[in-house]
Amino acid sequence: MTQLTDRLVLDFAADVRRDLALVPKQLQSKYLYDALGSSLFEAICRLPWYRITRAERRLLDAHASDIIERLTRDSGRAVPLIVELGCGSGEKLMILAEALQTAGRAGRVHLIDISSQALEQSERTLGRLHHVSVVGHRETYEVGLRQAAAHREHGNPMLVLLLGSNVGNFDTPAALGFLREIRAALAPGDFLLLGADLVKPERDLLLAYDDPLGVTAAFNRNLLVRINRELGGTFDIGAFAHRAIWNAAEHRIEMHLESLAAQSVSIDAAGLTVRFGRGERIWTESSYKYDERQIDTMGARAGFTIAEQWIDDEARFALTLFRAR
Ligand SMILES: C[S@@+](CC[C@H](N)C(=O)[O-])C[C@H]1O[C@@H](n2cnc3c(N)ncnc32)[C@H](O)[C@@H]1O
Repeated sequence: MTQLTDRLVLDFAADVRRDLALVPKQLQSKYLYDALGSSLFEAICRLPWYRITRAERRLLDAHASDIIERLTRDSGRAVPLIVELGCGSGEKLMILAEALQTAGRAGRVHLIDISSQALEQSERTLGRLHHVSVVGHRETYEVGLRQAAAHREHGNPMLVLLLGSNVGNFDTPAALGFLREIRAALAPGDFLLLGADLVKPERDLLLAYDDPLGVTAAFNRNLLVRINRELGGTFDIGAFAHRAIWNAAEHRIEMHLESLAAQSVSIDAAGLTVRFGRGERIWTESSYKYDERQIDTMGARAGFTIAEQWIDDEARFALTLFRAR
């Protein structure tokens, strides 16, 4: 465990060093999720303005038994393998696992999350069930997917979950590349369940990513707290403000941290001193928003056909069940 933690800290330092030298300055969104970041994300999911979680739960509640029926239909008594990429609390996977139980089937679940707090929580949640075995991977999506796919047994169907619009954190070419990686880990007839947020009025999007309670601002600024603690940084947290911007041309919400003054920051473990001009920003996250056709096309180009697509009209959110060709 110590070795793994050391490797992740080394990667963090190297990524921070590289990404703060970019123009504009950037930090990768996967680093938003330390223990406090994961707790703040759970709080965001409960905010009235962030509707993704409730919408996706509504769709899963309504269609979990259908999804499980399709997954197990042709496989006799085989034991399905369900892999969730970026599982967070594991509550959504729990809905599918309960449907598996109702169908009288056993299953194997692999949870992948870069956040140890999220992984521990989801392992606890899923660990309550007797009909599924649970394996956790504290890894990036790509490494975790490779590790989980190695457990695939011939004849057992596999379902990969990429929920919560996690796909929206990738830019368009990277999202397609990632779906192709998922496809490569699957056999023909296996499934991918993709949750993706749809374009909606700008006002609703901005409230979801810049809420009046300031929880999303705390989630974003906590990345600087994390750099100070883990990498020996000297960020003055009060000197950076949260900004959420709707980039209409690119169909994405961008989160930034804006320097409120000209200032210098040093980051010991990255061997770095960074200068900021007043108003200069660090780009910390993108959340792409889609229309239904884009989702279908992306899946088709990655080697899938659509088995089913369900839309939550209230929050404009799509849950798509893809089948590997
Ligand atoms: C937006 S949250 C969504 C959580 C959950 N899927 C849901 O729908 O509520 C993203 C989750 O993915 C994890 N995560 C983000 N980037 C990751 C990466 N590159 N590799 C592995 N996990 C990642 C985070 O720690 C977090 O738990």
